[in-house]
Amino acid sequence: MAIQRVLTHPEPRLREKARPVEAINQNILTLLDDMAETMYAYQGVGLAATQIGVPLRVVVVDYSTDRSGLHCLINPEILAEEGTQEHEEGCLSVPGYYDTVKRPAQMTLRYLDREGNQQEQVVEEGLAACYSHEIEHLNGILFVDHLSLLKQKRIKKRLEKQMETRD
Ligand code: NI
Repeated sequence: MAIQRVLTHPEPRLREKARPVEAINQNILTLLDDMAETMYAYQGVGLAATQIGVPLRVVVVDYSTDRSGLHCLINPEILAEEGTQEHEEGCLSVPGYYDTVKRPAQMTLRYLDREGNQQEQVVEEGLAACYSHEIEHLNGILFVDHLSLLKQKRIKKRLEKQMETRD
């Protein structure tokens, strides 16, 4: 297992639409392990493969406070959404920035787990917001895309400046 580098906005690979996983083989299991290790190392609640530069539809989430509730979702699909909520969020790909985003209050999801079994799950509140955020990553969407254009411009400028000073 290895911690991977998390890509940060405005990296173009974060905008790619990820492909479905065709077979759960050793490469996918290693990817899931790397993603979980990376998420825990960065103290995130979720990570999409897109964020480490792998354009496959894979997400890991741990929304528990004691970091013992790892979920691995392969090819997640949203079957239904209900209601809305205002959710305060951040993203490992948009470091240092937090804001409120409108998310579904409840979602029904279908996905494959790491054993390849099809699962259906109803999630709500913070967990629904978290899954919504991660699944959007697979479609090249960042949470800041939901904010005003003025805020988006400001965030992008600040992150570009940080990137310059890092080089
Ligand atoms: Ni994110």
